[in-house]
Amino acid sequence: MAEQKKKIMLTGDRPTGRLHIGHYVGSLRQRLELQDDPSYEKIFVMIADAQALTDNFDDPEKVRESVFQVAVDYLSVGLDPAKTYMFIQSAVPQLHELTVYYMNLVTVSRVQRNPTVKQELKLRGFEGESVPVGFFTYPISQASDITAFKATIVPVGEDQEPMLEQTREIVRSFNRTYGKEVLVEPEIYLPSNEACLRLPGTDGQAKMSKSLGNTIYLSDDEETLRKKVMSMFTDPGHLRVDDPGKVEGNTVFTYLDAFVKPDSFEKYLPEYKDLDELKAHYRRGGLGDVKVKKFLFAVLNEFLTPIREKRAYYEAHPEEVIRVLTEGTQAARETAAETLADVKEAMRIDYFKGWAEQYGEEFDI
Ligand code: TRP
Repeated sequence: MAEQKKKIMLTGDRPTGRLHIGHYVGSLRQRLELQDDPSYEKIFVMIADAQALTDNFDDPEKVRESVFQVAVDYLSVGLDPAKTYMFIQSAVPQLHELTVYYMNLVTVSRVQRNPTVKQELKLRGFEGESVPVGFFTYPISQASDITAFKATIVPVGEDQEPMLEQTREIVRSFNRTYGKEVLVEPEIYLPSNEACLRLPGTDGQAKMSKSLGNTIYLSDDEETLRKKVMSMFTDPGHLRVDDPGKVEGNTVFTYLDAFVKPDSFEKYLPEYKDLDELKAHYRRGGLGDVKVKKFLFAVLNEFLTPIREKRAYYEAHPEEVIRVLTEGTQAARETAAETLADVKEAMRIDYFKGWAEQYGEEFDI
């Protein structure tokens, strides 16, 4: 096709708690970058409450509270309503309609083979066939989220790649089945830095998760941050300062890889030129964990300070947050409705539109 595809970004987060620094390096940072890229026509960021309910259906208060907190997180890190539409998934009914039609294009065995679903089923203890249908089909609903906006790029963590692959399959299947290039295949957008791809928890576990209590939230205050950093996992073999230490798998260094800025050393640890020099000293021995942790605290605290300030502003002005969501949701509905109309036309279920054309009469529906 000669026609240049329009660049459109869509991504989303499950509102099951506040967002943390893993979300930031894994996806929020990429959104901020694309938000400032003028070649993008539209940017959508969705609070995926309907998806969160697939495994939190019995805790609606948590989801409700988190919807607002995640919106505040977005605005606090700098997502800008003048450039980015922020919206609530459940308030865009077109997404759920699309899901119903896409369900015809996906087999049970295909969803069962989805590695993310497999892993989550195990994690949540859903045995055999006792998994709720809503949870089981969430990859299909996620394909609706993405295709409703004809998104070309989706900044998410790498654990979401199987969802993107499933979405591309649905797109191909739809376009093939209904003989029209209606839907667009999306690409994932991952962080380029290895440390950001999978930021471990403060305890060194593979992932930050609320239930493990190993998370640093974007909303953590200074004292909470200090406590969390000072009790972080390092190299268990590095017992005395003089012992040589390991940098690989050492969470404090992984966080530094993800957050150090060019001027961080000059500001907070001027006796070192850069991270390579600091790592070399640690490996050699003679550099204590406390010193490295204090440096990491300073770096993270500098990063979180403006975010906290913005958060305080938005918490004091909830009506501004709500206005952003109202406008974003309205825009999301309009775009999703256009895609749904294309989908219905391709599927030959656009009855009233077809009849109106056939009989030259407007039907009031
Ligand atoms: N599954 C995503 C997560 O757990 C959230 C999500 C829902 C999403 N719909 C989406 C992400 C669409 C990207 C695009 O983080």
